[in-house]
Amino acid sequence: MSEHIQIFDTTLRDGEQTPGVNFTFDERLKIALQLEKWGVDVIEAGFPASSEGSFKSVESIANALTTTAVCGLARCTKSDIDAVHESTKNAQHRQIHVFLATSPIHLEFKLKKTEEEILASIKENVAYAKTLFNDVQFSPEDATRTPLPFLIKAVQTAVDAGANIINIPDTVGYSYPNEYGQIFKTLIETIESKHEVIYSSHCHDDLGLAVANGLAAFENGARRVEGAINGIGERAGNTSLEEIALALYVRQDHYNLTTNINLSETKNTSDMISRFSGLRVPRNKAIVGRNAFSHESGIHQDGILKNPETYEIMTPQLVGVVKNTLPLGKLSGKHAFSQKLIELGYDLSPDEQVEVFKQFKSVADKKKQVTDRDIHAIMQGSEHEE
Ligand code: KIV
Ligand code: ZN
Repeated sequence: MSEHIQIFDTTLRDGEQTPGVNFTFDERLKIALQLEKWGVDVIEAGFPASSEGSFKSVESIANALTTTAVCGLARCTKSDIDAVHESTKNAQHRQIHVFLATSPIHLEFKLKKTEEEILASIKENVAYAKTLFNDVQFSPEDATRTPLPFLIKAVQTAVDAGANIINIPDTVGYSYPNEYGQIFKTLIETIESKHEVIYSSHCHDDLGLAVANGLAAFENGARRVEGAINGIGERAGNTSLEEIALALYVRQDHYNLTTNINLSETKNTSDMISRFSGLRVPRNKAIVGRNAFSHESGIHQDGILKNPETYEIMTPQLVGVVKNTLPLGKLSGKHAFSQKLIELGYDLSPDEQVEVFKQFKSVADKKKQVTDRDIHAIMQGSEHEE
């Protein structure tokens, strides 16, 4: 029996913390509706206590969503919790995300609080949130730099106060997958609870490990993952949700974990975030980068033309990309070149093809990519120069 993984999208909250990104009110609503279409379980729509604009935006998203739950972020204070309550009160499904840092460096320099004060604040505020929400998520911020005994105390306090979702943030992207997975294993084995508790991962990509850490969390019992489309977010970003969704789908044989994601909407969703954020997706980005289904070398192009599975572990159509591409360059071989000639309407004898292929190679040596115009120019007997 496969188990369900909840996808918690924080593109509109942590994702918007990307330096230079500021979605408009309308863009935020459009993004939320697209995320619902993509099939996420929960959307963290913002941090309503942070500004009037944020409050109003969370409210409009809460009113618009029908199947996906809306969630708002709150520090461990009653006024923040009230702001999430007020802004989401008309939602069909809603959750609250309460957080407080637990690591020594945050306690000493940022919060200037003792461990006892932290535990008291968790107890009081999570219990208060529970009087307003059925689903209360608690995050010990900077969990991965928190000594395990204190992390266990903080999580146990939150669970005793009514939290039913525990999210473990790797706030500064510091953890290795085996360490991060071990934290989940230990918490799940140690925390006592009369109610069901779902464990969630939340990773940052400072060392490029956010997706790997999310997968390690699943292997150790997490059943929810937080992240952002295109991996946007603070500094190096958050876990890229499209990578998680496809890693689970493509390797079902390994994980046997399923999501509600409508994979064919992946590219549309990524394109929308790129457009509204003004952040271009790197060409070589997994799943949604322009090169993700593009094959350059002759050997690979030949393989793809014989059977795409030689070099593709998923079809482009699966994620909403129209088709793969075989750009012609100096590494391209005869197979891809003759395919291109047919596509462009040229019907050559084998001898003619050999001759034209030589000319193609000579053009290709001088350029990064040979375009259709170049091929037409070769066919007309003169090399096209740009
Ligand atoms: O990275 C982080 O610690 C956060 C918290 C608010 C959960 O984003
Ligand atoms: Zn974060």
